[in-house]
Amino acid sequence: MVPQSAPSHRIMDTPELIRKKRDGLELTRAEVFNFVERFTSGEIPDYQASALLMAIFIRGMDRRETADLTEAMLRSGRVLDFSALPQSKVDKHSTGGVGDKTSLIIAPAAAAAGVLVPMISGRGLGHTGGTLDKLESIPGFSPRLSFQDFHRVLAKCGLAFGAATEEFAPADRKIYALRDVTATVESIPLITASIMSKKLAEGIDGLVLDVKTGTGAFMQKAENARALAASLVSTGAAHGKRVHALITDMTQPLGNAVGNALEVIESVETLKGRGPRDLVELCRELTAHMLLLGKAADSLDSARAKYDSAITSGRAFEKFASVVAEQGGNPRSLEDYSLLPQAKHEDAVVSSRDGFISGLEARALGMASMILGAGRERSDAIIDPAVGLVLEKKIGDKVQAGERVCIVYSNDRSRIPQALDMIRQAITIAPKPVTLLPLILERVLNAPAS
Ligand code: URA
Repeated sequence: MVPQSAPSHRIMDTPELIRKKRDGLELTRAEVFNFVERFTSGEIPDYQASALLMAIFIRGMDRRETADLTEAMLRSGRVLDFSALPQSKVDKHSTGGVGDKTSLIIAPAAAAAGVLVPMISGRGLGHTGGTLDKLESIPGFSPRLSFQDFHRVLAKCGLAFGAATEEFAPADRKIYALRDVTATVESIPLITASIMSKKLAEGIDGLVLDVKTGTGAFMQKAENARALAASLVSTGAAHGKRVHALITDMTQPLGNAVGNALEVIESVETLKGRGPRDLVELCRELTAHMLLLGKAADSLDSARAKYDSAITSGRAFEKFASVVAEQGGNPRSLEDYSLLPQAKHEDAVVSSRDGFISGLEARALGMASMILGAGRERSDAIIDPAVGLVLEKKIGDKVQAGERVCIVYSNDRSRIPQALDMIRQAITIAPKPVTLLPLILERVLNAPAS
């Protein structure tokens, strides 16, 4: 289904819309658009919108309704147009996790391998980090670009990092704020429309989704992650986009570093070919899918080889250094890490006994990092870019009593006791070797329906 013209705006009986969904009936395309347009413009009050959102939460939406809701939310704001640039435009979206710095690596790697990456990102909230916060720990870097500047940086570097502003899918901001206070966040059609309306506003041809599952993920259970991945992929296809989703494990942090400047260092090390095993594996696979969707490779194997060559040749790192410089950041800080924000204090968490690391509970480690100041409890909180933690052991590693498992970087000493306590509780040690879960659990692939 390729998007059709938007239905005309006319007054509809809002209680009738609520009643229909309450009774499990399908909303027509005109009804979905009418609700989104009139709620965004302030004509439908919050109490009626809340009732409809709760009806959607309980009754669900089918594929067509979800695609219509996505389109109505997308059309509530600006849709970027990069058609003047001939290459394929491809992006990646992660449902959020702890230590997830893949965007900083795969955007330059994919750009080095021939696709354009117009990446619009958000900030971190709660235990999960945000790409913008990480990038802004680079002195001088700014994601606040006008459309003209974003277009210029994209054309020059092959990638650009922008901030999600009021202009993109404003309906989503308004609906999300209401969902947050009416217990209607965890709904597959509402999450799908929220994510896809913002991503489709980037004017992309293809999208790779990293749907996380496990204790540190938004969708903790694999079956929910699978349902969300299927819904995201089919909604992308309904809009004529090529979309692939990987369902990936988030029971322990990705890579070793959690915290903004610390994650920039790990990302740069990965771009220089010295990344931790799990981070490298995921970046390689996500980039390979981006290259496949962007038709820069004709098989996953050749796409993986292109990722490898972008890293070993240094081209991916050069792309990152060029976009950092173009967006006002100091590229010397990518060589001399002492130019990045530095924490004043370091504490080590050591193993209490001999054995094998069997758990590094991602959510608790993300919360500990937030308590140190690396993340936000509330969306208006100020973060400290220097603080966080670095794991020296990951699940499966052998450890001896007294050996360092985690290094904690802090500025505010009053936060240390609580953070250390949480980190100690997040670590479990087994007497015998443990079996590792695969990092990439499943792939959901789709082609456009038309
Ligand atoms: N992320 C989003 O952008 N929207 C949701 O509804 C949930 C997660």
